[in-house]
Amino acid sequence: MVTVGIIGAGRIGKVHTESICNYVRNAKIKTVADPFMNETTEHWLKSMGVENTCKDYHEILNDPEIQAVLICSSTNTHSPISLEAIAAGKHVFCEKPIDHDLTKIKQVVEALKGSGIKYQVGFNRRHDHNFAAVKQAIVDGKVGDVHIIKITSRDPEPPSAEYAAVSGGMFLDMTIHDFDMVRFLAGCDAEEIYVQSAVLVDPAIGEAGDVDTAVITLKMENGAIAVIDNSRRAAYGYDQRAEVFGSKGMVATANDTLSTAVLSNAEGVTGEKPLYFFLERYMQSFATEVKGFIHAIENDTDTLVGVEDGLKPVLMGIAAKKSVEEHRPVKLSEIVY
Ligand SMILES: NC(=O)c1ccc[n+]([C@@H]2O[C@H](COP(=O)([O-])OP(=O)(O)OC[C@H]3O[C@@H](n4cnc5c(N)ncnc54)[C@H](O)[C@@H]3O)[C@@H](O)[C@H]2O)c1
Repeated sequence: MVTVGIIGAGRIGKVHTESICNYVRNAKIKTVADPFMNETTEHWLKSMGVENTCKDYHEILNDPEIQAVLICSSTNTHSPISLEAIAAGKHVFCEKPIDHDLTKIKQVVEALKGSGIKYQVGFNRRHDHNFAAVKQAIVDGKVGDVHIIKITSRDPEPPSAEYAAVSGGMFLDMTIHDFDMVRFLAGCDAEEIYVQSAVLVDPAIGEAGDVDTAVITLKMENGAIAVIDNSRRAAYGYDQRAEVFGSKGMVATANDTLSTAVLSNAEGVTGEKPLYFFLERYMQSFATEVKGFIHAIENDTDTLVGVEDGLKPVLMGIAAKKSVEEHRPVKLSEIVY
């Protein structure tokens, strides 16, 4: 049994609390910390079986009984809390992204060297049943050499312009998951990135300095070509699909739906919309990723998504932003840190 503490009780902190309490049998949450801890959250956490709540995460870091922490707080706290947690000897599960600043991520990389600490980054989609099956088909050689990877990733609703302004922009907030997915499916890093982007969904996002629509082409180090298409609003819901085409064949996924029922009548043939957003679509993957983290701690194995996997998509996001600013393909080697 691994005793854990959760830092941050917002949306994703609650997701991880729920999935650990319900599905991760060999982990126990001792304490949840959030500076804005209130009675409602406290009451909910107690009902889930969490022993303690507090406002200051140092209480978790100073607790010798707690072996691991999940950093689920706001993005700007991830790298500083990671460094403190590593210094305190805690294993760390850190939500994405580790930071937007590559120098700060490198400090985490350095701190981990020789520490024996397990560090996992919350790129949950690798653990999704559909994307994991696509990866398995590639690993089993069923599509042969990978030539083309296509990722469709469209949100059902755009974020507020205020959120867009502080989130690091679409590439570092949303596309970062797709950058991770491209690396995961290709089995290697990207060499070059070129972006065509636009503001087609909400002019306020453009006024906040961000984009809401993009097609990104990538040349991967193994020669494969990848394309990611992003929109901040798909009228029909959360569109999350991947296709991998290779020398022997192709593997592709459809969206998850509430049911597979298809109604055929005089008006036409209709089925369910995709599940609404990440809380509906990815719950299984959130539980599976934490199970993997606990397994790595208990069995002293590598985590499935390590610190380098946390760094590379940020590098790709920065290259994507540069491509937009300079209207040209950008080599990853141009991003110096
Ligand atoms: N993997 C995913 O699919 C996924 C999904 C959503 C969010 N996230 C990531 O999780 C992080 C949190 O996102 P969210 O949507 O839960 O945001 P949120 O605003 O709902 O929650 C963040 C919480 O962190 C708390 N917090 C801030 N500083 C803290 C500190 N020093 N100690 C403890 N708690 C602190 C806030 O009070 C808030 O309750 C973001 O970095 C986001 O990128 C990942």
